[in-house]
Amino acid sequence: MCGIVGYLGNRDAVPVLLSGLRRLEYRGYDSAGMAVIRGNGDLNVHKCKGRVADLEKHIEGKDTAATIGIAHTRWATHGEPNDCNAHPHLSQSGRIALVHNGIIENYRILKEALTEQGYTFRSTTDSEVFVNLIEYIQEANNCSLLEAVQQATKQVVGAYAIAVVDRDNPDQLIAVRQSSPLVIGIGEGEYFISSDAASVIEYTNDFVYLNDGEIALISRNVPVRVTTAENESCRVDISTLQLSISELEKGGYEHFMLKEIFEQPHTLQDCIRGRIDKQTYATVLSGVRDNKEHFLNARRIIIVACGTSWHAALIGKHFIESLCRIPVEVDYASEFRYRKPVIQSDDIVIAVSQSGETADTLAAVNLARKSGAFVYGVCNVVGSSIARATDSGTYIHVGPEIGVASTKAFTGQVTVLLLLAMAISHEKGIAQEDRCKAIAKEMLTLPQKLESTLERVTTEVQSLAKIFTYAHNFIYMGRGVNYPTALEGALKLKEISYIHAEGYPAAEMKHGPIALVDAEMPCVVIATPDATYDKTVSNMEEIKARGGKIVAVVAEEDTIASEIADYVIRVPAVSEYLMPIVVSIPLQLLAYHIAVNKGRDVDKPRNLAKSVTVE
Ligand code: AGP
Repeated sequence: MCGIVGYLGNRDAVPVLLSGLRRLEYRGYDSAGMAVIRGNGDLNVHKCKGRVADLEKHIEGKDTAATIGIAHTRWATHGEPNDCNAHPHLSQSGRIALVHNGIIENYRILKEALTEQGYTFRSTTDSEVFVNLIEYIQEANNCSLLEAVQQATKQVVGAYAIAVVDRDNPDQLIAVRQSSPLVIGIGEGEYFISSDAASVIEYTNDFVYLNDGEIALISRNVPVRVTTAENESCRVDISTLQLSISELEKGGYEHFMLKEIFEQPHTLQDCIRGRIDKQTYATVLSGVRDNKEHFLNARRIIIVACGTSWHAALIGKHFIESLCRIPVEVDYASEFRYRKPVIQSDDIVIAVSQSGETADTLAAVNLARKSGAFVYGVCNVVGSSIARATDSGTYIHVGPEIGVASTKAFTGQVTVLLLLAMAISHEKGIAQEDRCKAIAKEMLTLPQKLESTLERVTTEVQSLAKIFTYAHNFIYMGRGVNYPTALEGALKLKEISYIHAEGYPAAEMKHGPIALVDAEMPCVVIATPDATYDKTVSNMEEIKARGGKIVAVVAEEDTIASEIADYVIRVPAVSEYLMPIVVSIPLQLLAYHIAVNKGRDVDKPRNLAKSVTVE
């Protein structure tokens, strides 16, 4: 997820662009840049790796006076964060500048075609392909910039919001929305564009919200014109926004964590995008395809991670062993790096890390590489240290996760680990093809199921949170993949509410923890349909017999566990491979609402950091 901002009007563009970028930095901050068309007709681009503050230093002392410009703060998806890959990108001739938020899925094919037409590329980004495609179409057809953009959007596949300026036409700015947000701020004789209204709310409260497939032609002192790719005119509705800046930066949510919980239907879509063939339901991950031999010859897979990522790794173990029949060990990275592990060249070590900067996980990766293993990364931050230290990998593409308590990154990690298991199974030709295709087909419906889960459980969970806000201890339990899901639910609660919570395999209760059970300690039991459901129901009976209070998370048509429990949260029935993702939603919300009720700093809990870059 990146941030775009643009300006066309009468004031100096650069202060508007910089203040806009600062407000968009939560969307991504590994590099930033701007393009302005000067009064003398020059199109100047200023960009660098780092934060917006680094860009401000970069342009200090330079003459940047201009009344039109576009700017960008990057969350890298293709191409490492560096000066060259930073946006804006110039067309080959240097005449057109473009900023882009999103992913161009077919950029390789387009890049090959443009290369055959003599185009060369300075960066490794998909965005640079887009701006050269626009230039190529405009020059090949001798058409206007608007027509070229309209034609280019017919060839580009993916999710994107772009803004484009043309050196030879300093009175025009073009913006396009396709699955990535883009708004147009309407001022007095001036226009603003942005990924998020917050970034320009200080200049105007009147906005046009572009819809998918709409192309806006913004011209000096002329009303905005919005068209489709076929040049059909679209309605231009102006909405007046009555929201404070601080709320808007959280998209109207009270906390980033709540925003990120509710983003999960969209982030799951981004995570899956381009990785499941919608005709054959085959799963293709380039990291697996390009390193097939390693996966075919792997004697063992070791997954190293910390915290929430370690819970995702435990779930990944179930997937890989079930679908690929390769033995999997899961290690805390901090334990792995010090226990002098026996690592061999036919081992594969997978590192799971949202930030890609966790010191213990990075150290485990370096140890594994030194020992000759093939090392694969499952990270969220492109170009992060762990991503760069691994031999290959798969990004989870859930965008920046601001809340310290991981939510959308966890469901993204579980999703990628399932995709990884299906891709390895596909390459190994294991007789699981039909099962993998069925999972892939159902996975494509998951965003919608998450949407309905969020709608369905929010109220129930809020009232449960009121009941349990002052509990002192919780125990979460489940069997199979529901055990690590229970561990994650317990971690969510303890790290933001500071209530003690433990996760346990349900069968382990009778080996000690059941001594803790009484009416004061809520027991959250995940009892969803799978091979161990009946056993889990027996464990619930054992708890009830000792006066325990049970919160059961069950499938929507459940009739047994829901009769035993004191409180019931129902989720859509999905295959057991997808259940950890669905079940996590109510557990995240339960932790969130209890923490809010206790007045905790949900986004920045005490003693914690978003990325533990020290041991
Ligand atoms: C999870 O809510 C915590 N923020 C923490 O456990 C986190 O998962 C852990 O520090 C690992 O971080 P990483 O995924 O960035 O490596």
